[in-house]
Amino acid sequence: MIKKAELYKTVYRIDQLPPEDKPEVAFAGRSNVGKSSLLNSLMKIKIAKTSSKPGKTRSINYYLVNDNYYFVDLPGYGFASVAKTEREKWNELMNNYFINRMNLKMVYVLIDHRHKPQKNDHMMIQWLKSLNMPFMIVLTKSDKLNQSEKIKKLNEIKNELSVYGEYIYFQTSANKNKGIEELTNSILAFLK
Ligand code: GTP
Ligand code: MG
Repeated sequence: MIKKAELYKTVYRIDQLPPEDKPEVAFAGRSNVGKSSLLNSLMKIKIAKTSSKPGKTRSINYYLVNDNYYFVDLPGYGFASVAKTEREKWNELMNNYFINRMNLKMVYVLIDHRHKPQKNDHMMIQWLKSLNMPFMIVLTKSDKLNQSEKIKKLNEIKNELSVYGEYIYFQTSANKNKGIEELTNSILAFLK
């Protein structure tokens, strides 16, 4: 159970990462997919800043949960109006992060339940796979679909990503607090 959460550190450069003294899980996904909202739901406290405009979270935000582990809100990708230099900075930061972070136990890749995975979602998944980084897929904003659409879209997304392997999928809604308990159980199991 998640009993306590606080913003621990905001990281803009790789040398600012906290020591690898506690296990961590990270949340990746396109800008505006709902990473920060999902974290707020998981932590049961609205501390991650959210926005209807993409590109809100530009830093790696560390949350200390139950005094014992970190939840990591990664900066979103695929934000069209980002300058090339900023994109290069993002690439370098993320590459360093994924390669070096020995205490990183699992990456949750968020994809909007309503949409087909985009080109950069494919790139992220191929990238994680090439690094042998374990990951699972979290579908977000499920409240925007009805029951039959949910099943249809889940199958379409699963089918499209099956070229990379078999993955675990969570269907969530941060707004309606759906699927949050299942996801919490998965996360805590990796942090034991
Ligand atoms: P960046 O920080 O820009 O990368 O975005 P993010 O992935 O952190 O997204 P954020 O949590 O800020 O949410 C983006 C928008 O989607 C906001 O307007 C949220 O209110 C909305 N949103 C997030 N989760 C849900 C959800 O489960 N359901 C619905 N209907 N809207 C959601
Ligand atoms: Mg965010």
